[in-house]
Amino acid sequence: MDLFSAYRNRPAVTVEIGGQQHRVPQGITILQAMWYAGIPVVRGAGCLSGVCGACTTTWRLAGQSAGRTGMGCQTSVEDGMSIALYPIEPPQKKRYRMAELADPAEALFGIYPETRRCTLCDACTQVCPQDIPVRQGVRLMMNKDFAAVAPLFDECIMCGFCALVCESNIAPNLLGMYARKAVAHYGGGSGGGSGGGSGGARDELQRAMRRSRDGSLDTAWQGLLDGPPDALAARCGSAWQAATTTAD
Ligand code: SF4
Ligand code: SF4
Ligand code: FES
Repeated sequence: MDLFSAYRNRPAVTVEIGGQQHRVPQGITILQAMWYAGIPVVRGAGCLSGVCGACTTTWRLAGQSAGRTGMGCQTSVEDGMSIALYPIEPPQKKRYRMAELADPAEALFGIYPETRRCTLCDACTQVCPQDIPVRQGVRLMMNKDFAAVAPLFDECIMCGFCALVCESNIAPNLLGMYARKAVAHYGGGSGGGSGGGSGGARDELQRAMRRSRDGSLDTAWQGLLDGPPDALAARCGSAWQAATTTAD
């Protein structure tokens, strides 16, 4: 099966991947270009929809001295583009259980002491592919205002760019996650108040967790696995149609 048959008649552009030049069809994404060139990308590919944050990529356009960063599955190739997948280092994992913290505000600087070293340089905001005001989020974390921080990071895809560029070794994405967990568990930041995710969303999550625990999701999953391929295809097709109709 030729995955790229739909692209074969397009004009080609030249891109450089890892120092080697390749001719690839115009309009495909950076990840597709890598596959087209025969480069196996497994670890840096996930959802292919700009959601999972796996395909962190850096590139430089022809004639430009400054490089750019973004998601390889969401960025189209351009003639003369020089490309490299970005090996984001996994951040050091902090071990804590939000539900066991008596006071998340009190515990914050014990778990993430580097938070106070933020120089407000703004590099994290500049690099964020989701246009999150990351520096503002870190600034608010210094005040432990979790209710204000949590919604700022709603669109975070955990790509890790913000942590990569931080000169103070702060992982702003993990701070955002901490704030969101704190709000989910306690309904607001140390400063009290509520916010950061609607009650409706929390209720929906609780319902999904109940269904996961009581086994009803297992039954539905097994039903999918046991069904004939035609029924599965029809079901996926109608789900896809419903989703795209709703999106329109
Ligand atoms: S990159 Fe680091 S030091 Fe700079 S504003 Fe962001 S969190 Fe603060
Ligand atoms: S906040 Fe950081 S991890 Fe989240 S999307 Fe922006 S750059 Fe990526
Ligand atoms: S593969 Fe998931 S964001 Fe690109």
